[in-house]
Amino acid sequence: MIAIGSDHGGYTLKQALIEYFNEKGYAYKDFGTNGEASVDYPDYGITVGEAVVKGGFEFGIVICGTGIGISISANKVKGVRCALVYDVHTATLARQHNNANVIALGGRTTPVDKAIEMVEAFKNEVFESRHQNRLDKMSKYESEHSCE
Ligand code: RB5
Repeated sequence: MIAIGSDHGGYTLKQALIEYFNEKGYAYKDFGTNGEASVDYPDYGITVGEAVVKGGFEFGIVICGTGIGISISANKVKGVRCALVYDVHTATLARQHNNANVIALGGRTTPVDKAIEMVEAFKNEVFESRHQNRLDKMSKYESEHSCE
């Protein structure tokens, strides 16, 4: 099951990916937005991030105009490792090295065919456990530190 959400800047690409998932028979849950009216990307990045951390999803996809704002937003959720990917190589490495649980795409910067290739690359890749120590350091920091 894939969790997917976008703001208005990512809406067209989100819908195109959903059409692709339907063709392929991939299970997904669409967290909105549901049209091109202006909305705020944190609402969608945080919602998808929380859903992924709570469990039941293979990974999440968040999309805004550039992927920047919504990736920053998703990364505010404890337990999220959201990677802003911009080609097949970075999508592959986001899984292999970072074990990202959410990927961010730019709806205004990424053509649909390229986005599909990137999602497939990420989906089919496996994490290389030699990088686990680095992920553990991030989790340790998250659990032990607060700026409040
Ligand atoms: C919305 O206009 C735009 O700022 C947003 O989609 C995104 O690109 C922000 O990072």
